[in-house]
Amino acid sequence: MSIIAESDITLLIQNSKKFRISNKEFLITGGAGFLGSWLCEILLAKNAKVYCVDNLSSGRAENIKHLRTNKSFIFKKIDITKKSLNLKPDYIFHLASRPSPDDYLKNPLKTINVNTDGTKQILELARRADSKLLFTSTSEVYGEATVFPTPESYFGNVNPSGPRSCYDESKRLCESLSMAYYRTYGLDMRIVRLFNTYGPRLRGDGNYGRALSRFILQSVNHKNLTIWGRGKQTRSFCYITDMIDGLLRSLFMKTTKGEIFNLGNPKETRIIDLAKMIIKLTNSKSKITYLPLPENDPLRRLPNINKAKKLLSFYPKTKLEDGLSKTIQWNLENNYRSL
Ligand SMILES: NC(=O)c1ccc[n+]([C@@H]2O[C@H](COP(=O)([O-])OP(=O)(O)OC[C@H]3O[C@@H](n4cnc5c(N)ncnc54)[C@H](O)[C@@H]3O)[C@@H](O)[C@H]2O)c1
Repeated sequence: MSIIAESDITLLIQNSKKFRISNKEFLITGGAGFLGSWLCEILLAKNAKVYCVDNLSSGRAENIKHLRTNKSFIFKKIDITKKSLNLKPDYIFHLASRPSPDDYLKNPLKTINVNTDGTKQILELARRADSKLLFTSTSEVYGEATVFPTPESYFGNVNPSGPRSCYDESKRLCESLSMAYYRTYGLDMRIVRLFNTYGPRLRGDGNYGRALSRFILQSVNHKNLTIWGRGKQTRSFCYITDMIDGLLRSLFMKTTKGEIFNLGNPKETRIIDLAKMIIKLTNSKSKITYLPLPENDPLRRLPNINKAKKLLSFYPKTKLEDGLSKTIQWNLENNYRSL
């Protein structure tokens, strides 16, 4: 279930050579999720001690099963809104959240709680322990953006009471909380606004599925691909290794304290083109069906990454076709076929 391309891990180890990770203690909240499990894996490969905390609401025990024999890996099944942690990590990647639209639309209160109460707990821990912290925000804080490519300086165009507000507005509050800790206590924290990321371990099933991974599952099962709207809306898709590289740079490079970065791939893709590409790559007999566009679903998502390019030398290198091929391959090898 959890074996991912060796070449991806090797590349990440090489790229992060200059960062002092060995023997440092890390807390990864949401560590059994898609991005979190990759972070755990790469940090352990670099001889760090990793505390992985997750309530397994959208994360999967399978994502970290292979790490549990490693003595430097400690997994705690904990809901961060309910229990405070007695740890003193050097670094914190705070990822715990409920980012899948189907899931957060069904669980608005839990989504608000993990983003607000959960984030407050983790910021307090970072303050007490004097840890360096990275908070993963989202492109959703921009709402229905009107500026493209969207820079960090854009304030957003968000419906504060719409169905998606449980996610986007609470992530906006997380940013505000994090900045308040930075301004009040000098907390060594940075905020990264992630745009759509994909790769092995991104769930495509049930409530947790996101468009790209759901298309893959539908396609390998020769089921119709479901598109909301006519598919002309765009997203920019960043392959997981490029994103993990960006997360490591954001935490370890100097001059990132108190900063906000967009991280993502600056290439825009129409959802219809993504669906067709996946059908082609999987040799599928699937057709495309169209459903009504959900309320407040943004029509475009395109990051301006000039700041991350300049300060972090961050630039995604993986082409969509290559990343998709690896992701499809992983889904097939892991019999990850259920919808
Ligand atoms: N993947 C993307 O494209 C993307 C885009 C924008 C932002 N992000 C952000 O990146 C972070 C990681 O996203 P992901 O794609 O890995 O999602 P994910 O759902 O795979 O991971 C989130 C993890 O948080 C855990 N979690 C949720 N509530 C919790 C709680 N109360 N206590 C403890 N753990 C809890 C879940 O079980 C899950 O493992 C999230 O904060 C998300 O908002 C991701």
